[in-house]
Amino acid sequence: MMSIIQVGNLKKTFTKKKGHLFRRKKELVMALDGISFAIERGRIFSLLGPNGAGKTTTIKILATLLTPTSGSAREKVLMMGFSMFINFAK
Ligand SMILES: Nc1ncnc2c1ncn2[C@@H]1O[C@H](COP(=O)(O)OP(=O)(O)OP(=O)(O)O)[C@@H](O)[C@H]1O
Ligand SMILES: [Mg+2]
Repeated sequence: MMSIIQVGNLKKTFTKKKGHLFRRKKELVMALDGISFAIERGRIFSLLGPNGAGKTTTIKILATLLTPTSGSAREKVLMMGFSMFINFAK
């Protein structure tokens, strides 16, 4: 049976700005380091994990409120078999 939602090797990195005006630094925060799961039609699916595990980031990407990081990962979120992040340019 086709999965309603499919996520494969999903990655998200946030860029965090640190420091003051003349000492600005960029820090990368790896929120999702390649997560994969599939949800079948009619199933109740729980997304569990400790604080900072990436639950909210995952849900926001599924809702298209955030975009995944890295080229191939964009094609790794499927809803009803359709790719969610195939037609956007960075
Ligand atoms: N906008 C952002 N900028 C920088 N880092 C972020 C941002 N949003 C989330 N993060 C970081 O990404 C990681 C995952 O955060 P996320 O909020 O997805 O976790 P969570 O599982 O929902 O946590 P909680 O259980 O506390 O709600 C954390 O390290 C968090 O600090
Ligand atoms: Mg959260």
